[in-house]
Amino acid sequence: MPASRLSRARRYLVCEPRYFDVQYAINPWMSENVEVDLDLALSQWNTLVGTYRELGHTVETVEPEAGLPDMVFAANSVLVAEGKVFGSRFHAPQRRPEEALYAAWFKAAGFDVHQSETVCEGEGDLVPVGSHILAGTGFRTTPDAHREVQEFFGMPTVGLQLVDPYFYHLDTALFVLDDENIAYYPDAFSPGSREVLQRLFPQAVIATREDAMAFGLNSVSDGRHVLVAPRAEALIGQLVTHGYVPVPVDMSEFHKAGGGIKCCTQEIRA
Ligand code: ARG
Repeated sequence: MPASRLSRARRYLVCEPRYFDVQYAINPWMSENVEVDLDLALSQWNTLVGTYRELGHTVETVEPEAGLPDMVFAANSVLVAEGKVFGSRFHAPQRRPEEALYAAWFKAAGFDVHQSETVCEGEGDLVPVGSHILAGTGFRTTPDAHREVQEFFGMPTVGLQLVDPYFYHLDTALFVLDDENIAYYPDAFSPGSREVLQRLFPQAVIATREDAMAFGLNSVSDGRHVLVAPRAEALIGQLVTHGYVPVPVDMSEFHKAGGGIKCCTQEIRA
């Protein structure tokens, strides 16, 4: 373990939860009968954004649109790697209008946007680590999208089979600590995919089901600081042991929609 982990300044895109709500159920966390406290959601989200800025990261915003309650989950909209943008095609028809809004933001910011040919949910299922892309499938993003992503970026794209509906996106079961290491919850994956992760990341931080159910794997690391759900207590302890600096940020209102810290954060990688 290095004596001190180094952070790298990041550029993030986020979307204010002005119209956040749970109006339909497209994953097991969502229930049409649940009440969302919008003021609490806004204050949790503002704390997240303020924390990124205090840590020296650049945060940009895309304008939210009424009638799109999940648009706050910016991570699902695209994957950006080496300055190239791979635009999503959402599984749920309720979310498909988000595609054009995010694509327009990236075009206005000077990027070309390639739109996926099959279902693909951006950084929800596509997680760059070092020179590879880890790619989840099973609930949303298709194996055809993995092939398209590999062809588009020219980066080795490693397919991983998700098996537990509570962890329907890869970013609910795994996150990147730095260019060499990850944290994950093994039982969210098929036996073969678990073996792949074990071979690629023998030093990985292994999380418990309690950590995962507390959205502990939906974390964002800058290489040193890890913004993490406060109830993922065992994971927080392990991060300290491994030399990282946990920064607890409570996003409990967003858990009602099946999202957390990472879901609200799109990284723009130059
Ligand atoms: N309600 C949203 C959905 O099911 C939540 C998305 C969470 N985003 C994520 N990156 N896991 O699509």
